[in-house]
Amino acid sequence: EKQDGDVLQKSFKEMISTLPKGNSWGFPGDVYQYQGFWFSPPFLQGALLAQQQFQAQPTDIILCSSPRTGAAWLKSLTFSTITRTTYDDSTTPLLSKMPHDVVPYMEFDHIQFSTNRHLGIPLLATHLPYSFLPRSIIDSGCKLIYICRDPKDTFVSLYHIVARYNKSQNTQPIQLDEARFKKASVRYWKASLERPDKLMFLKYEDLAEDTVSYLKKIAEFMGYPFSSEEQQQNVPENIVKMCSFDNLSGLEVNKTRRHREGYENLRIENNIFFRKGKPGDWKNYLTTEMAQRLDQRTMQKWSSSGLSL
Ligand code: A3P
Repeated sequence: EKQDGDVLQKSFKEMISTLPKGNSWGFPGDVYQYQGFWFSPPFLQGALLAQQQFQAQPTDIILCSSPRTGAAWLKSLTFSTITRTTYDDSTTPLLSKMPHDVVPYMEFDHIQFSTNRHLGIPLLATHLPYSFLPRSIIDSGCKLIYICRDPKDTFVSLYHIVARYNKSQNTQPIQLDEARFKKASVRYWKASLERPDKLMFLKYEDLAEDTVSYLKKIAEFMGYPFSSEEQQQNVPENIVKMCSFDNLSGLEVNKTRRHREGYENLRIENNIFFRKGKPGDWKNYLTTEMAQRLDQRTMQKWSSSGLSL
């Protein structure tokens, strides 16, 4: 089996080396264009492997997002909701693992995912565009939650992570015109209109505005609704508090430890994932002209689908 895996990886590598290459925003290595989207080689290899091997089950719940749009927050909220009778505030794994380690990414970790299923935690995350999802995800009828964010804030968030990641390297900061993350939302948006029982489309800004109400909707959608007794006991409110930016970013694990310790090029400090956690922070970084340019480009991609900021 290992040999099959090696052969597969080699054929992916060969295929990737023939693709158009692009600027990687200063991250190590290049990115490659495949079917209209840009991927780093480990991510694209993981995506191709997942397409071939990932077998979704009808009970799976897949958390989908572009980078820097609130995945860690969504992971912590959904994880806490699903495990609320197994753990409490003093035993939750969120105290010792960062959210990205509690809910793995399909592109990197789907092979280990069955372990989580056995524990009754059917959550998996992905950055894949809708058209790239393994066929079994659509065929199985499992549920998807997509989180979308104002591209201006996503850009600012990405800018900062790239800058921090490359502190030691003399690379160019990401340019506004390189922001390539607007297109993915439209396809997910359309799918959520076609199959609202299977795909929930969330916006980071809405979630920030009224986290408790949205958490209740998320719980209902996932099939883990809060009972009236739980609501009386403020269970949703307590989950929101546990998963708040202030609480999670203050935990020792998120302040001092590292994510993906085993991957040389992807190893990263946990605290990079917690910057400010505020909608509208772009106002502190982008000029009016830059903001207008990004909005215009977003609307070019979004407007015909009815998706708006
Ligand atoms: P900022 O850089 O604007 O602060 P992702 O998890 O998809 O990489 O998204 C990262 C963004 O979500 C960052 O935004 C990060 O600070 C913010 N974030 C992380 N945890 C959060 C939480 N618990 N609540 C709200 N925002 C959070």
